[in-house]
Parts: sequence; C-alpha cells; structure tokens
Amino acid sequence: MNKNFISTAIDYVNAPPHIGHALEKIFADVFARRKRLLGDGVFFLSGADENSLKNVRAAEKAGVSVAEFVSANTEKFLALKSVFNLSYDDFIKTTEERHVLGVQKLWRACEKDIFKKTYSGLYCVACETFYKEDELVENGVCPVHSAKPEFMEEENYFFRLSKYQDKLKELIENDKIKIFPQSRKNEILSFINGGLEDICVSRSSERASGWGIDVPDDPSQKIWVWFDALSNYITALGFAGNGKEFQAWWEKNNNKIHIVGKDILKFHAVYWPAMLLSAGVAVPDKIFAHGFLTVNGQKMSKTLGNVVDPFELAEKYGADAVRYFFLAEFPAIDDGDFTIEKFENRYNADLANGIGNLFERILAMVLKYGVKDIDLDDADPAILDLISRTEESYLGKTENFQFHEALKDVLAFAGEMDKYINDKKPWALPKEKNKESDKIFSGLMFGLEKLVFWLKPFMPAKMERAENHLKNLGSNEEKLNLFPRINI
Ligand code: MSP
Repeated sequence: MNKNFISTAIDYVNAPPHIGHALEKIFADVFARRKRLLGDGVFFLSGADENSLKNVRAAEKAGVSVAEFVSANTEKFLALKSVFNLSYDDFIKTTEERHVLGVQKLWRACEKDIFKKTYSGLYCVACETFYKEDELVENGVCPVHSAKPEFMEEENYFFRLSKYQDKLKELIENDKIKIFPQSRKNEILSFINGGLEDICVSRSSERASGWGIDVPDDPSQKIWVWFDALSNYITALGFAGNGKEFQAWWEKNNNKIHIVGKDILKFHAVYWPAMLLSAGVAVPDKIFAHGFLTVNGQKMSKTLGNVVDPFELAEKYGADAVRYFFLAEFPAIDDGDFTIEKFENRYNADLANGIGNLFERILAMVLKYGVKDIDLDDADPAILDLISRTEESYLGKTENFQFHEALKDVLAFAGEMDKYINDKKPWALPKEKNKESDKIFSGLMFGLEKLVFWLKPFMPAKMERAENHLKNLGSNEEKLNLFPRINI
C-alpha cells in the first residue's frame, strides 16, 4: 500500500481563523481524501502554533493569560475541522507534552550545529523572523505584513545553517525534496545560491515573556518559535519516544508532503530540512506552496484586519459550496481574490446550473425508464471513452495540485453529458426497451457515478448524499436537489 504523510501549516492562534487559513486546510483535505479514495494509506496532520511571540502580544492586549487566550483560539481553529469536513487524523498543539519533549529531543540531536553569540537585528513579530535591511520594502517595512520590524540585541543560540548549503541545493535541484510549483523551486534555489547565513534559534525567556519551550539545560532561553513549530511534523508522530508511527509515517515513507503558503516556503524548504539533516532524521519529500486568498488584491490577514469569517460563510452557503469555490476559482499556486459576487456567480453557473441540473435531468429520465433495468456493464462505449479520458486527466491534475484544472475537466465532462443527452434525445426513444436505450441510460448512470467519485474529495458531504440517493434510487420519492440556486 502506498503511504502518504500529508500536513498543513500549523496556524498562529493570535486571533480566530479567517478564510485564508481555511483555504489551505481545504487544499490539503482534498489531496488527502483523493489519496484515500484511490486506496492509499494516509496520515493527515494539522495543528496550532501556540508558542509564538505574537500570541503573547495578542493575549497581553486582550488582558488575558496567554494559556487561556491561545486555548480559546485554538478551539476555533479546531472548529474548522468539523465545519469544513476536514479529515485530519491528528491535530497537534505545540503546548502539548509530546511536542515539547520532541522539540527538545530534536534540539539535542542538532546540538553539534548550535552555538551561542551576541546578535542584533530587525525582528518582525508578525512573521516571527529576522530581516536583513535589504529584504525590507519601502520605508523599511516587512514585505508580508507591511509592519515595521523591531530592533533586538541579545545573546542567543544560533544554528549552523550555512553548513547545509550544498546539501540542500543538491536535494532540491534533484527533486529529492520536490518543490511545487517550479517557480517557487527556482526562488528557493536562488535564495540558497545567494548564500545561507546561520540563523538565530532562541530568544531570551524575558523577551518571550516566559512563554515557549525552554532550551534544554538553559531555561534563560526559549527555543525560537520556528524551530519549535516546524518540529510538529515529527513530534505528532511520536518522535520523542521514537514511536512506531514516527518510524512508519516519517522515517520509512517516501511520500511526506507539506502543504504550506508561499510566505513560509523558505522555512519548510530550507530551515526545516537543514535541521533534519543535522539531526540525522529523514527530510520531507514534497513541499507544495499555495498562493494567498486576497481581498482587493491584498493578502487576507489578521494583522492587516481585512478578514472574512469562514464560519459565517459556511453557515450561509454550506461548507461544500465554499470548498468548491476555493478550489475551482483560481489555480492553487496563484493568489485569488475573494468577493461574494464571484462566489455566488460561480455557484450558480457551475453547481446549480451545471452539476446540479445534470443530476436532476438524468435522474428524472432514469426514473421514468425504470431503474431496475439499468446495468452499468451495458454503458455506451462513447460515454466510457469520455469517462476514461476525463479520469486520466483528472488524476494527473489532482496529483499535481492543479485542482482548478481538474474541476474544469469534471465540468467539461458534465457539459459533454448534457450534449450527449441533447443528441440522443432519450425522451424520443420508442417505448419498448431495447439495446440502444439500455446503452444510453446505463451510460448516463455510469457518468453520474463517476461525477460523484471525482467530486467526492472536493465536496464530501454533498457527494455522500448524492451517492446514497443513487443507491436508493427508485425507493426514494424525494428530489435530490443538490445545489439549489442562489437568488442574486
Ligand atoms: N505558524 C506559522 C506556520 C508554522 S508551520 C510549521 C504560520 N502561521 S499563520 O497562521 O500565519 O499561517 C498559517 C498558514 O496559513 C500558512 O501556510 C499561511 O501561508 C496560510 N495563510 C495565511 N493567510 C492566508 C491567506 N490569506 N490565504 C491563503 N493562505 C494563508 O505561518
């Protein structure tokens, strides 16, 4: 059995989630569900990054203890799971003991590459990272949040990243760590070629307000939140105790896939593999960097204050419609702008008029024809051919995260089915059943079954309902009515 370890980023819990966070989890969920449907083994992981400085600052501002503050927000991130039907196998919080022990174990395993030095630099709390002057944009602000970094000077621990420059270059160039898309791979290679500097991997406990994971044997320092957070991928699998799951899903698995936003690719493609190389642990196999959901062209972010609430959206339109929109509207590698108008228009065009209408149309005819007389083995070869061409393309595209292209294929298939019905005019066939009508109706039902199979990872709840409806067809008087039109 093929095994896949699939992870999302673990979110900062300095505020409730916005739909940008939901988008990433939905991408990953489609990928995980698709693998499971194909019969692969899957371990799908998500979680909450609770130890960051920005969480501390947000809690201070809210006048609540950090522990109370982060656990309330983590619950909201976890709620995305049930609302959007995310099929995580595990959800790790970085304050859990299994994580703390695992991070400290990893630190010790990297100790030969860790040293102390006094350092000063510009730190962006929103990104939780240092910036060099030439990395800042106009007026000296951070390129991601347009926030002014703070000047810091401290004695901290450093990790010898520079030592891994050649090895990382080789791994990435040869796709041993395969970065999608190619343009991001090139960006990472040019970052590495520009020369890797050693990185600061701790901060004083005082600056961290006492929050975070202690450096082993030096409680005056807390482990830098990225060293801490990246470790979640193995601490969740039981790295601390070298457990069975860690061995099976990490060390002895060549399909370890991280799905992250383009803003944090560098941490996953450079820092994280270097830490693992240093510790003698296997490196990830694939990293997929997705684009941002934007509002008027700007990244949606808590820091910028332009967020759309995922819960309100799901409550109003249903989770599957939201899932569908994110996956169909724009390529996963690009940024996509969200507006309610675009959402409603696409819903009506693709789902109500497209897929939903096709289901109603075929089911009405099949019921009249007599469900019991349908044998899928009789399906029209023309439909079978259409199915196999669509399936081949769909499989290739979903494997490469081209979800919107895969959905285009599925929609084109639905359009072809519609055309087929118009051409064959099943309603005008002679009343007596014969080979020709068997072929047509079997083909149409087979086509619907395939539509359900292809769309299941994208809209699991709706497709489960459609599947049950198809199974009980004939004994169920109710209309399916999958996607009622939205009145705009
Ligand atoms: N805590 C770190 C990740 C640590 S992973 C070891 C972090 N957290 S975050 O909350 O800022 O972002 C979490 C994920 O959500 C990232 O992959 C980020 O790119 C993604 N997104 C945040 N805003 C987004 C959009 N507006 N659109 C799409 N994804 C976005 O970074």
